Amino acid sequence: MFNSLSKAIHFLRSNGNTTALVYDDILGDTGVAKDSKTHIPSVNMGYWKDISQIDPEKIHIANQAMFKLVSEAAMFSEKDEKVVDIGCGFATNIKYCLDKYNIKNMAGLNISPFQTNWGNHFLKQEGLSSKAEIILGSATDMPFDDASIDRIISIEAAFHFDTRETFLKEVVRVLKHGGVLSLADLIICKPKNPFQKLFVKSIMKALYVPAQNVYDYEDYVKHLQKCGLEILHIEQLNKEVTIPFRKWFWNRPFSVFFKYNLLWSLTGLGFMFAKLDYLHVVARKK
Ligand SMILES: C[S@@+](CC[C@H](N)C(=O)[O-])C[C@H]1O[C@@H](n2cnc3c(N)ncnc32)[C@H](O)[C@@H]1O
Repeated sequence: MFNSLSKAIHFLRSNGNTTALVYDDILGDTGVAKDSKTHIPSVNMGYWKDISQIDPEKIHIANQAMFKLVSEAAMFSEKDEKVVDIGCGFATNIKYCLDKYNIKNMAGLNISPFQTNWGNHFLKQEGLSSKAEIILGSATDMPFDDASIDRIISIEAAFHFDTRETFLKEVVRVLKHGGVLSLADLIICKPKNPFQKLFVKSIMKALYVPAQNVYDYEDYVKHLQKCGLEILHIEQLNKEVTIPFRKWFWNRPFSVFFKYNLLWSLTGLGFMFAKLDYLHVVARKK
């Protein structure tokens, strides 16, 4: 409890205004990473389509199903020289892709020093560091040359990027011609009433979501169409991701709500009542 309070005070003092702070100080050393003895940490809401019962342990299966969905859609080829995962969390999806596909070289990009260090250590432990590394940097200013990347994957991270449109411009810059983006993303919809506004604000503050990224699925599609990528597949995944995630959230034992820290518990309320949606898109650079 004292730990929770000190984290919350630290967050409020810093005005909660950097994503790295959120992930390093609040998530990293308290929550998901601490559970890594039993499960390699993944930080997404999961893809629940073929999961029959939504019980607490199933989140790990749903996380892996999300990796499967997004990586299969990236259509890896033996000719690929460079694959990147933007907002790669703790490198869990990088391990998934390297185990499953014959990928020569993979990089992750993450703004969080805690996750970058953790992920690189993990890749080394798994004997994968000759094939992959996580680079500390931002999705909105990628440390990659123009037209140098074959495939980009990004799972549930673009809603943080300042802004999502800047990220999409970067994707177009760094992808080779014919290169593919497979993107899964949380959509925080425009609030329609004062209550929704309150919950959206709590998510924006606690998870650092720029106001420019708050818009509905239809507007997201328009942004994608404008950015110059050819859309190969686009799917709204509210029923497969956000709705079951909420069920999972409430199905957990009551004690879990106070396990990580107070702030995350409060943020959870925003997640429960704000209007959310989810999107998976596969697009090609023309
Ligand atoms: C919800 S987590 C998803 C992590 C991972 N993709 C997964 O599914 O486990 C969002 C991730 O985006 C990263 N992130 C946030 N803003 C970023 C930015 N501007 N550039 C790169 N990574 C960023 C966070 O540090 C975090 O790892």
